[in-house]
Amino acid sequence: SPFENAAVLSDSYSSEASELADIEWDNLGFGLLPTDYMYMMKCSQGGNFSKGELQRFGNIELNPSAGVLNYGQGLFEGLKAYRKEDGNILLFRPEENALRMRQGAERMCMPAPTVDQFVEAVKETVLANKRWVPPPGKGSLYIRPLLMGSGAVLGLAPAPEYTFLIYVSPVGNYFKEGVAPINLIVEHELHRATPGGTGGVKTIGNYAAVLKAQSAAKAKGYSDVLYLDCVHKKYLEEVSSCNIFVVKGNVISTPAIKGTILPGITRKSIIDVARSQGFQVEERFVPVDELLDADEVFCTGTAVVVSPVGSITYKGKRVSYGVDGFGAVAQQLYSVLTRLQMGLIDDKMDWTVE
Ligand code: COI
Repeated sequence: SPFENAAVLSDSYSSEASELADIEWDNLGFGLLPTDYMYMMKCSQGGNFSKGELQRFGNIELNPSAGVLNYGQGLFEGLKAYRKEDGNILLFRPEENALRMRQGAERMCMPAPTVDQFVEAVKETVLANKRWVPPPGKGSLYIRPLLMGSGAVLGLAPAPEYTFLIYVSPVGNYFKEGVAPINLIVEHELHRATPGGTGGVKTIGNYAAVLKAQSAAKAKGYSDVLYLDCVHKKYLEEVSSCNIFVVKGNVISTPAIKGTILPGITRKSIIDVARSQGFQVEERFVPVDELLDADEVFCTGTAVVVSPVGSITYKGKRVSYGVDGFGAVAQQLYSVLTRLQMGLIDDKMDWTVE
C-alpha cells in the first residue's frame, strides 16, 4: 500500500533526503518522506528569536537534559502548501498557525517567533523544498513547525534555550481509508483533556496521551477515537487528530472552543465556508446522544482536511451514516475548501498566500 511505501521510504532514508524518482505521486499517504532542507532558529529564555537559517534536513542534536525530552515543553503546528496549475505555490492561512503557536507558547512558558518570523520561515522552507510540493491534485506539502525547550534543565523549570524548527514532507490522504468514510469509536474511560489543562493548545503531550486509546481502537478495526469531556462524560470533544462536526438538516454543530478542544484552523475555516453556503453553524456543547439521529458526521483538520465519518460506535452500539462515500454536506464543504486552498476558485476571504 502507499502507506507502507511511505513508511519504508522514511525508514530506509531515515535522516537523509528521499529521491523524487522514488515517489509515487498518485499514492501519497501520510508518512514522512524526508526532503532537502529544514529551518532552525534558536533563542534563550527571556530573549527573542533571531537569525534563523535553512540547513540540510537531518537529525538534530539535543542535550539529554533538554526541557522537551524531560518535561514535554514543546509545541507543534501543521499547515500545507499546494501547487497550482501555473506552478505557483499557495499557503493556507499561515498567520493563523503563527498566532496559535504564540498562544500555546504562552501556556507552555516558552518564547515564540513573531507572526512575521513564523510566516517568513515557512515561506523560506517551502521554497527551499519546492521540488517536493506534489503536482496539482496529487496532494500537498505538509509543513511541520516545532517549538521546543532545547536547553538543559534538571529541576522542573522552563528550559534556558528554545529551538524553532520547520520540516516538510509531501503528503496525500491522512487516513488509510483515503477519501472513504472513517469508523470511529467513542472512548468513555480515557480522556484527552481536562478543564484548566493544555487540551486547547497544540502541545506535544496531548498527542502522546491519546496513543493508548488510539492503538486499542485500531486493533479492533476502528480508524480512530472520539473523545468525550471528562467532567460530564457526555459531550463530544474531538478525535485524536481532528475536530468533529455533526449535521442535522441545515444545522451543523461542533463542540465549542472552551480550553479542552484544539482550535483548529480548518475547523474555523469550515465554519465560515458552511455559513457562506447557507448552513446554520452552532458552536456549543454537543451531547453524544445527538450522534444517534445525525444525518452526517465529519471531521476536519489540516492533515485530515474534511473526512466523512461512516460509523460511530458508542458503548457497543454502532450508528452508520450515509451509504458509502462522502455525505452530501461534507462533500460540498470539502470541495469549496480544497478548491480555495488549491487556488481553483476566487479567494474572497483572502486566506491563501502565494
Ligand atoms: C494536523 O492536522 O496538522 C495535525 O497537527 C494533526 C496531527 C496529529 C497530524
